Amino acid sequence: MSEPALPAPGRGPVWARPGSNAEGPVLSEACPERSRRVEGAVRFVSRGPGETRRLGARLGRLLRSGDTVLLSGDLGAGKTVFVQGVARGMGFEGGVSSKSFVLMGEYQGRQCKLYHADLYRLEAPEQAEDLAVDEYCADGVLVAEWPERAPHVFPPDHLFVGFEVTGERGRTLALQAKGPRSGELLTVIERSKQARKG
Ligand SMILES: Nc1ncnc2c1ncn2[C@@H]1O[C@H](COP(=O)(O)OP(=O)(O)O)[C@@H](O)[C@H]1O
Ligand SMILES: [Mg+2]
Repeated sequence: MSEPALPAPGRGPVWARPGSNAEGPVLSEACPERSRRVEGAVRFVSRGPGETRRLGARLGRLLRSGDTVLLSGDLGAGKTVFVQGVARGMGFEGGVSSKSFVLMGEYQGRQCKLYHADLYRLEAPEQAEDLAVDEYCADGVLVAEWPERAPHVFPPDHLFVGFEVTGERGRTLALQAKGPRSGELLTVIERSKQARKG
C-alpha cells in the first residue's frame, strides 16, 4: 500500500512545519539507530484485555505532543482497549468512551492532551477534512481508530498498529513505524519487550 498523500499545498499541514514536534524528550539521543525500524513490524501477543491495556500504557508514557498512532483491525479487536491504556500511560485517570458515534474524544494527560478519533461511522473520506486532524496533531497526541476510512488526513510519520484476533482473548498487535519519530518510539517499545523477556 502506498503512503497516504499529504493534503494539497496551501492547506499548510501542521506536521510539515519545522519545530512543531519540539516539546518533550528527544528519544533519538538515547536511540541513535532510530530509523532502522521504519520497514519492519514488531509483534506483540496479547492474552487478554489487561495485556493490551498495559502495552498501550507503555506506549502512552513515551508519547508527546505531535505524535500520531493509527489503529487498524476488525470491530472488537481491541483498539479502544489499547487507547484506554494509552490514556492511562499519559496520565489520564478517567474512562475512555468506546461509542463509535463519537468522532473525536479529548482527554487531558499529564503533559498534553490525547485526542481519540474513531472514524468507523465516517460516510465519506471527505468528511474527515472537517475534523481538522492537523490541528489536533499540533495540539497533542492523536490516536485514531479506522484510519483507513480517510488515510489522506493523517501525517505520514505515524506509528501504525495492526490488530488481529487469534482467539476469544488472543490478539496479535503488529507495530510499524512510518517515519523517523515513530521509528524512535518503536525502538524504545521493542527494547522494553526484550528487557521483559530477559
Ligand atoms: N487480548 C485482548 N485485547 C483486547 N481486548 C480483548 C482481548 N481479549 C478480549 N478482548 C475483548 O474484546 C473487546 C475489544 O473491544 P474494543 O477495544 O472496543 O474493540 P475495537 O475498538 O477494536 O472495536 C472487549 O470486549 C475486550 O474485553
Ligand atoms: Mg473501538
